Amino acid sequence: MKSLADIYSHLPDAPSEKTLERVDYEARHWSSPIRGPLKPGTVEHKRAVAQMFRDTFNPYKPSVIPWPELEPETLKRITSLPIWDIAVQTEGKARLRMAAYAAMIDDPDMKDALSRNAWEENRHKEVLSKLVAAYNIPLAPEEPYIEPKDTEWAYMVTGFSECVDSFFAFGLFALAERAGLFPMELIETFEPVMQEECRHILLFANWLAWHRATMPFWKRPWFELRVIGVWFFLAYERMGLVRTIDDHGKEHTQDNNFAVTGAKDMTNVDIKIPELMQLCLDENDRRFSGYDPRLLRPQMAPMIARAIIKGSKIWDKLRSKKTHSAA
Ligand SMILES: [Fe+2]
Ligand SMILES: [Fe+2]
Repeated sequence: MKSLADIYSHLPDAPSEKTLERVDYEARHWSSPIRGPLKPGTVEHKRAVAQMFRDTFNPYKPSVIPWPELEPETLKRITSLPIWDIAVQTEGKARLRMAAYAAMIDDPDMKDALSRNAWEENRHKEVLSKLVAAYNIPLAPEEPYIEPKDTEWAYMVTGFSECVDSFFAFGLFALAERAGLFPMELIETFEPVMQEECRHILLFANWLAWHRATMPFWKRPWFELRVIGVWFFLAYERMGLVRTIDDHGKEHTQDNNFAVTGAKDMTNVDIKIPELMQLCLDENDRRFSGYDPRLLRPQMAPMIARAIIKGSKIWDKLRSKKTHSAA
């Protein structure tokens, strides 16, 4: 097997349209040739996970990007989105945390997949940095990236938050595309990034199942408590706004809760929350549909979305009953 550095420092250049189409297809479709079930904890399962991650790698996009000239209004819309600081920093943290955790684990297959994931996060960070530079978006200075002390915790925080953020980002991205407020070139640039995040959370869900299945039984209770702790941490983080001050003393208000507030900024479309949740669910299904159904999918964010849809239906029913009886 070639080393990561080998593969990634020699990305083939000037691909033809045909090659681009083929790798794009391959990044979205993958099935294990092994027959029978792929049970987490088995060698077959973890090898399939690692192979999926290798085979679906897109070597070209999003490294090759022509940044389009933007109309002043579009430029303003993009630069004023309150997401850039947090996006760049999130990718930077993800790269570091995944690499740190990959270095810690012994299993060669999982180590390989997680190291590749770390590399891809770095590429996301580069893409974002290039975009920020191309459109002169002011950024708050990045805090130094420090190796996490509790490597597994940091990896889980990154993994679970990717699961939640990607789920909502899938829907918002589709909404932005439909609204047509952004030039097609930009949408096309970020499309493979979105699909990469889908592969990342597919990897994370299967790492989690593998980790649970292979850890000694007496470690499980403490581990599950930590998983709950991570979810509390993420809920807390998303409820608050993170504020950072830039070089000129200007305050940047970061919106960790972009899923809710982002829809309007990105689309001008007045969409109701349950409709947005349904769109997220549909997009989530669509993006995962090409991968081997025997690999596990993240569950929590779709569950939350379904609960919101159900809850709002019940609420509407109750309200219409109330107005009926009042009449
Ligand atoms: Fe990323
Ligand atoms: Fe990712």
